[in-house]
Amino acid sequence: MRIAVVTGASSGIGREFALQIPRLYRNLDELWVMARRTEYLEELKKNVSIPVRIFDGDMQRDYIFERLEKELDRQEAKIRMLVNAAGYGKVGVFSDIDPKEQLGMITLNCHALTKISQICLPYLSNGSRIVNIASSAAFTPQPGFAVYAASKSYVYSFSQALRRELLSKGIFVTVVCPGPVDTEFFRRCGKLPNPFKDSVKAAPKCVVRKALEDSVKKKRVSVYGPAMKCARAVTKIVPDALTVDLLGRLNQIGRSLDEK
Ligand SMILES: NC(=O)c1ccc[n+]([C@@H]2O[C@H](COP(=O)([O-])OP(=O)(O)OC[C@H]3O[C@@H](n4cnc5c(N)ncnc54)[C@H](OP(=O)(O)O)[C@@H]3O)[C@@H](O)[C@H]2O)c1
Repeated sequence: MRIAVVTGASSGIGREFALQIPRLYRNLDELWVMARRTEYLEELKKNVSIPVRIFDGDMQRDYIFERLEKELDRQEAKIRMLVNAAGYGKVGVFSDIDPKEQLGMITLNCHALTKISQICLPYLSNGSRIVNIASSAAFTPQPGFAVYAASKSYVYSFSQALRRELLSKGIFVTVVCPGPVDTEFFRRCGKLPNPFKDSVKAAPKCVVRKALEDSVKKKRVSVYGPAMKCARAVTKIVPDALTVDLLGRLNQIGRSLDEK
């Protein structure tokens, strides 16, 4: 059975991948989707042209991975595309963020993504694709978003190293680094510092279309839009010490504006 696996498919970027993948890969037998909110996944099912298998559960716990592993084995699945989109971020000074959330970000953004990659790897073969969603926050350390940015740097680094390891098997890994995207992410992340509040958000449809095009072209990194391309270029040239200091200063300005 030829399948695509998408985590975080109940909303935002993951949902958009779930909608666009069957249009791109015409020979898929099923789409397997993962997230906690069953009703959102059921709703998604109605909008997808191929059969959808739902894995509803918390990726911060182990039972969901066991279910996936058993099903991959039982169905003798051939994964043509794996998309790791489940993730979240919490904005704020490190000491102000609930410790459970600090670790929760690492568990979902890093641990779960690595676990899914381990489980799926034996079912990927020549021509298969892995698409991992990092963030432009991966490009440099970010005061005020410290754990999230570090967790996405992990995804950025891991994906590129894994890509090199899998090249000889004809499996291609693309890491996607979006800037702000208009999704539920901002409902969960908390209050943004003032200067970033009204940042322009890209449409998930466009970010995902570009990511899928880049995956087909076997690109290493997918960055949508001139602003984020520019941010990536700048962080390659400017030392981290300077960008971290600048971001720290912007946060301070934001806090004082908020207090006024
Ligand atoms: N939006 C942005 O500006 C932006 C920018 C750069 C990168 N990203 C990254 O893009 C990815 C997708 O985010 P999004 O913007 O599409 O936000 P979103 O709409 O909030 O989607 C997050 C997805 O992750 C799933 N998820 C969260 N916690 C989970 C858990 N414990 N177990 C299983 N699934 C869980 C959610 O499903 P349930 O709640 O149903 O579980 C949802 O499907 C994330 O990795 C995020 O870090 C987002």
